[in-house]
This record gives sequence, C-alpha cells and structure tokens, in this order.
Amino acid sequence: MTPLRATLGTVTALDAVSVIATKRDGGELSDSQIDWVVAGFTRGAVADEQMAALAMAIVLRGMTRRETARWTAAMIASGSRMQFSGLGRPTVDKHSTGGVGDKITLPLAPLVAACGAAVPQLSGRGLGHTGGTLDKLESIAGWQADLTGDRMREILADPETGAVVCAAGADLAPADKRLYALRDVTGTVESVPLIASSIMSKKIAEGTSGLVLDVKVGAGAFMKSLDSARELATAMVELGADAGVRTVAVLTAMDTPLGRSAGNALEVAESVRVLEGGGPADVVELTLALAREMVAVAGLDIDPADVLADGRAMDRWRRMIRAQGGDPDAPLPKAKHTEVVRADRDGVLTRMDAMGVGLAAWRLGAGRARQGDPVQAGAGVEIHAKPGDPVTKNTPLFTLHTDTPHTFPTVTNSLTTAVTIAPPQTPTPTPPLILERLTP
Ligand code: URA
Repeated sequence: MTPLRATLGTVTALDAVSVIATKRDGGELSDSQIDWVVAGFTRGAVADEQMAALAMAIVLRGMTRRETARWTAAMIASGSRMQFSGLGRPTVDKHSTGGVGDKITLPLAPLVAACGAAVPQLSGRGLGHTGGTLDKLESIAGWQADLTGDRMREILADPETGAVVCAAGADLAPADKRLYALRDVTGTVESVPLIASSIMSKKIAEGTSGLVLDVKVGAGAFMKSLDSARELATAMVELGADAGVRTVAVLTAMDTPLGRSAGNALEVAESVRVLEGGGPADVVELTLALAREMVAVAGLDIDPADVLADGRAMDRWRRMIRAQGGDPDAPLPKAKHTEVVRADRDGVLTRMDAMGVGLAAWRLGAGRARQGDPVQAGAGVEIHAKPGDPVTKNTPLFTLHTDTPHTFPTVTNSLTTAVTIAPPQTPTPTPPLILERLTP
C-alpha cells in the first residue's frame, strides 16, 4: 500500500523522515539520500527541525568514511567552487581548529606568500572564547574583510602580494553555513564527521591545491584529548586526499594561550613583532613549523626562517594589508581602561589555563556572544608570565584592557583561578608545542 503521506503529495516530508530513520537506526546513508537531503535543506524543502534531527542521529551513530566524503561533496555542491589555477604559483592554505591567542595566520600568510606560494585564506570571526582572524585584522584602520572573487584573484595574482585573508562569500558551501548555525543551537556540534565535513567543504570549495591543518589539542581547544584530535585530523586529511587537495595535519598543544596576548589589536601588535624578527618564542616556533609544512605541500624549496629574518615577510604583510584597504602604519586602537592582575605569592607559575584566559578576553569585550555582535578592537589580555616563570608577590601576571571597566572584578577573579603558583623551585617541564604530524 502506498504510504498516506506520499499520496498526499508531501513526498519531501516522507523522504526526510526516512533518511532520519535510516541513521537513527544505525544504518548507512546512500549517496542519493545524502545528496537529496543536503540539496533539499539548502533550498528550504527539508525543514530545520528535520535537519536538526538528522544531525543528532549523526552525532549518536556516526558516519562511515564514504558517507562523510559524500556529505562533504554535497556541502560543496550546495554553492560554487572557487578556481585559482593559472596564477603561475601553487596555492596553499592553513586552517586552525581554533585556540586562545592563535594569531598565527597573521604572520604566516605573508611569510608563505614571500616564500613563493599564493595563499587564499578564507577566515572567520570569533565566537565564544576563541578569537577570529577577521576581527583581529579589522582593528587595522581601513582594512576590509569582504572582497569579491575577482578582487581576491587579482591580489593573489600579484606576485608582490600573493596573500589574501578575507571572509567567505555567501555562495561558498551555503548548506554548511545554515547547518552550522543549526548545530550551534541544537547541541550537535560535537561530531567528528560533521566537524570534518564542515571545515573541509569550505577549504575544498575555496579552491586551494594544498592545505595544512593545525588541529589544536587541550583545555583551550575543541578537542580536549590527543585521541579525539587525532580522529578529527585523520578524517580531515582523508577528505582532503579524496578531493585531490594535498593535505597535512599537525596536532599542536592548546593548554596554555599562544604567545603573550589574547584580543584583537593586541594580537595584531604581537604578530607585527614576529614579522619584525621578535615576538614570543612559541608564536615564532609555530609560525615557522606551519610555514615549512605549507612550503613543502606547495613543492617549494626554501627555508621560511630566512624569509622571516631578512624582512621579506614584513614587506608582504604591508602589501597584503594595503591591498585590502588597510593602513599598516596607522596606530592600533587602544582600550580606554587597563588594570593589572598581580601574583598573590612568591613561587613559580606552573599552569595557565587557555580557556580561562580566552573567556577573560571575551568578557572584556574582545569576543562576541552572538553572531553579529560588535567587538572592542582594543580589548583583551596581555600576559606577562608564562608557565615555568618564577614570580614574586605582586609581580604583574596580566594587564586587562577594556572600554567596559565594570568587567574588571569578574575577570580578575576568574583569572586568579586560571593560574597555579607553586612553591619556588617547583620543576615545571615545558610540554612540546607540536605533538604529532599526520599525512594521508
Ligand atoms: N568549525 C567549522 O567550520 N565547523 C565545525 O563544525 C566546527 C568548527
């Protein structure tokens, strides 16, 4: 007998229910089910509540490698794919799964461009405790995140610039944009196949031929354990390889914030110090490690350390900022109020929780609680001591920056619990920053 709903002409509802039921009962979705449900969701024929139910079934039941690859392909097919062949240079991009103080894109993109690659870097804005690359760059006077595809290509084609950091256009994997917003409010973000396909659909659609993934592990990252980070990295490397994008993943520690600042203009200033040949050792180490991976993926034979040291990366930075309307010489915005948080005893700093520092920067106004909220360019946390450093009572640990000083008491309290000061001479081994490397 023909099911009632089909006879009523509501084939869409019937089919969506059957796709959800297949996954709910632990089955494998066919290629045509995946194509149909993603295409239907993109044009509004599959309702948000149906897609949310399917996402929850995927969170609970998982997806096979074939299903994940097909899901990713369907996400890409929901929009248009960018094309950067014919630039005369290899294209290579980096993606970080997000951490506190992670400003690496800022020195990295011009550095790799100065090594001879074209770097098309589509980036996002911050949400919650992790900052966003576009928010950071927008603290530079005049700098524009939104570019047309033609302008992006023009900048990449200029051999003296060759790097673009901009917002993804509305037509890049639009199904992912809608699905990610839905997952965010339905408790369905935490799924390796959904995260991997979400990230990789955008990177593959962006048209890069090589990709280096920085998968963060630890207290301040999405992935808290090495095993879960490895699982995500493996899924993404496989998706890249299946799509013909040369992909390498590096697992890196995110228990402690990267560098000495978390906040928009504060992180731009720190990135400029790295390009000038200074900056914190961990930021320099990770920038060079990822640059070496990107250069290798692009098939170039050059040591990025030389290019950083002789100022070629800095020249690129200045050109890259100007190409997007920014003034690299304009003074960066400063917050109206500052307050210093000091050590309450003598000893050695043995722990600084990245999540605690990220939340502090967010509360001070550097981040947003909802998409579209404004951010304060000057807000954030300057870090004066890192794990392993000896401190004495009243040594400054942090300087807080904000335009909204009513946040100081809460932030000061939370930062006090984000650090541990152990008795003097307590040994504090420095854990490695780069934990593992995965290739297809
Ligand atoms: N970032 C993304 O782009 N997608 C996810 O699912 C998670 C993080």
